[in-house]
Amino acid sequence: MATEGKLLAGKNAIVTGAGSGVGRTSALVFAAEGARVVCADIRADEAKEAAHLIEEAGGTAIAVTCDVSKEQDVVAMIAATVEAFGRLDVLFNNVGIPTPRLGAKLEDHTAEDFQRLVGVNFGGVFHGCKHAVLQFKAQGGGGAIVNTGSVAGLVAWGGSVYGATKGAVHQLTRAVAIEGAPFGIRANAICPAGMPFTGFMAAGGLATTDPDQLEKIAAQTGANHPLGRPITAEDCAHAAAFLASDRAANITGVLLPVDGGYVAR
Ligand SMILES: NC(=O)c1ccc[n+]([C@@H]2O[C@H](COP(=O)([O-])OP(=O)(O)OC[C@H]3O[C@@H](n4cnc5c(N)ncnc54)[C@H](O)[C@@H]3O)[C@@H](O)[C@H]2O)c1
Repeated sequence: MATEGKLLAGKNAIVTGAGSGVGRTSALVFAAEGARVVCADIRADEAKEAAHLIEEAGGTAIAVTCDVSKEQDVVAMIAATVEAFGRLDVLFNNVGIPTPRLGAKLEDHTAEDFQRLVGVNFGGVFHGCKHAVLQFKAQGGGGAIVNTGSVAGLVAWGGSVYGATKGAVHQLTRAVAIEGAPFGIRANAICPAGMPFTGFMAAGGLATTDPDQLEKIAAQTGANHPLGRPITAEDCAHAAAFLASDRAANITGVLLPVDGGYVAR
């Protein structure tokens, strides 16, 4: 695939959660924008499928099975990237899991629910940022981190523990941006609003394939956003690709809502 003039030409990028939704679309968009992509997911087959789709389209990719809540898996994911492609330029820490029973109030969360949300949503981003920074410093030349936050970390909109993990992701993003700046390391976050058509709702226990229901969900979600439509994985992937690219070379510590105007209201 010719990469000249593309947004991510010559970059080696890891996308976590590449098995589905924002991660899957971002892996494909990053590759189309010229990056060599490491497709990482806890689900091995879905990670492999993402890498296969990229290669079918003429790009370069490998698949890595990784549970981002486990530090040793994240260390191995970065080592596999360096082994395959020589260095790491971009880490997109995109994995996030929803409130286990969508609609659950704070008091409905068990201690296990809490540990899991914190372990995956905050712990995963912590491990990713830590080991990307170590790799960027070891190899020199800076690097870019993009984290997936949420409007639920900017304003309270339900999902109390989930929102708190995303608030933590936002604050970590800013801290990494400041600590990393002297080393040319940038860190930014995208903060999506409602995306009903990724795997996220099913992961939270709500799944439907009924077209009438889907249309209703799209209309309800869109009505929450001033621009009037649901957020898509493509919306997020293009925002992340820009923040990961050299065109954002002087942008760091930014929490970018991808929300159809939701938090501006
Ligand atoms: N869908 C929404 O409405 C919405 C809104 C705001 C923010 N977000 C955030 O967007 C991000 C992507 O979500 P999505 O909607 O694409 O969801 P998704 O469920 O479609 O994709 C998540 C992917 O992460 C993988 N994954 C889950 N746990 C993992 C782990 N421990 N280690 C590695 N991989 C793991 C899953 O296998 C899946 O492929 C998440 O951070 C989520 O919190 C989603």
